[in-house]
Amino acid sequence: MLKKELEEKWYQFYGETDSEVIANLLDDLRTGDFAETVDLLVNKIRGAYALLIVSKRNPGEMMAVKLGSPLVFAYDTANNFYFSSDKQALSGYADKLIYLDDGDILHIKGKNYQIKANWIHISRKIEEMDIDSLEASKGNYKHFMLKEISEQPAIIKRICKGRVNFVDKTMNAEAFHGMHDEHFKKIIFVGCGTSYNAGVLWTYFMEDLAGLESSAFIASEYEYQHIHVDDETLFVFISQSGETADSISVLKLLKSRWAHTFWVVNVVWSTISHLTDYGLFTRAGAEIWVASTKAFTAQVTCVLLLALFLWQKRWLSKAKYDKVLTELERIPAMIDDILDSSEQIQHVAEKIVKYKDFFFLWRHFQVPVARESSLKFKEITYLHSEFYPSGELKHGPLALVDENYPTVLFTPNDLLFDKNISSIQEIKARKWIVVTVSDKEIADADYTIKIWTTIDEMYPFVTAVVWQLLSYYTADLLGREIDKPRNLAKSVTVK
Ligand code: AGP
Repeated sequence: MLKKELEEKWYQFYGETDSEVIANLLDDLRTGDFAETVDLLVNKIRGAYALLIVSKRNPGEMMAVKLGSPLVFAYDTANNFYFSSDKQALSGYADKLIYLDDGDILHIKGKNYQIKANWIHISRKIEEMDIDSLEASKGNYKHFMLKEISEQPAIIKRICKGRVNFVDKTMNAEAFHGMHDEHFKKIIFVGCGTSYNAGVLWTYFMEDLAGLESSAFIASEYEYQHIHVDDETLFVFISQSGETADSISVLKLLKSRWAHTFWVVNVVWSTISHLTDYGLFTRAGAEIWVASTKAFTAQVTCVLLLALFLWQKRWLSKAKYDKVLTELERIPAMIDDILDSSEQIQHVAEKIVKYKDFFFLWRHFQVPVARESSLKFKEITYLHSEFYPSGELKHGPLALVDENYPTVLFTPNDLLFDKNISSIQEIKARKWIVVTVSDKEIADADYTIKIWTTIDEMYPFVTAVVWQLLSYYTADLLGREIDKPRNLAKSVTVK
């Protein structure tokens, strides 16, 4: 509409972006006063935005405005100014930061700034940049991704601290504030990308451990479905950044309908945690680069704790509950073992790097891990991968069979081990290359990455890390830009 109006005034457009419309609109609205022009602009445009505006006529000045989209303003001791949608990107540059509110107009002149809302000067809370430089540096690691993968054992311990007591096998009810409402009969998880994949795994945990009906939805799709809201349903929003536009959009919709909402978010002070009733921080520390690894494990750990908390109140046997906690305490050591024996994973990476297409075929608890592993793999290697529950193979995908299509099966010694072995035999009969991850010797597999034995619910923690590493080493052999994969952004703050 605005574009059409401008075209009628002979403005020319060279692309399809809203930014170009806004730049031309600013020119059209120009009054001679920079601040006044920007004010006219914000009164005219609709929808979510975060804008930084400079004008050739006002050198040394900049204006920032936002509505709906995140915008962090930060500065260092020399009053150099920085902007980002996510504070993590500013770590190492700025010391102080301010989260701008919707409708704020920030005006920079030289080394000074002021914020106005409705033409009145206001001061917003100034926060310290709390991401330390060590966290924001690669240290001795070749890539941030590898560093973040390696942090996972410590993060799981940190998540459990104060929330669970492994000695007397109790959970700290205070840490699960908001989940005291026992009237919830259904849980719906909403997220995007890796966070959605964690949500799918959570549905298994919730149903298996807490006996609660649950479903997971991709935020960008869910928004257009008929969402049934009632008093017995809890909507859980999962997000590393807490700033993902698709998730925020669903959250706002649900809030307007008085839905019960809960967040599992990594970045403190993010939009999702502000908007939601209550929740859990995932305590993964700053996840700086694009491929999500430690955030996934942290999300999964948090919900396992949540499921256990609910479970002890209403559902399974004490013996099972104790067993899950015992194994959860062992997970950091299991992941450490994988990190220490990473040569076996590098060896497999060297063998598979020549292929272009991959199948990920897993069952039950491993299906969400397959989904996440397939995403991780394609995201950083740029190789094609598809995931299927193994049982689906004969319903179509078998048509793709040839010796150039390696298949990855996670075949821990769990409930479905025998079924997985039959799948491997079916695949080998067609001469596919088979890579497995297992605590058992798999005679028919071409390569098996060994992991420790645990219980069914805990294997996903371990298998996910194996595939993070395999994706990493394969991408490294291919010389990919691992920390900044092409076409992708860390926080997706636009719809
Ligand atoms: C995965 O590696 C990606 N970083 C991406 O799929 C991400 O999980 C997704 O964009 C959701 O982000 P969020 O967790 O910050 O909401």
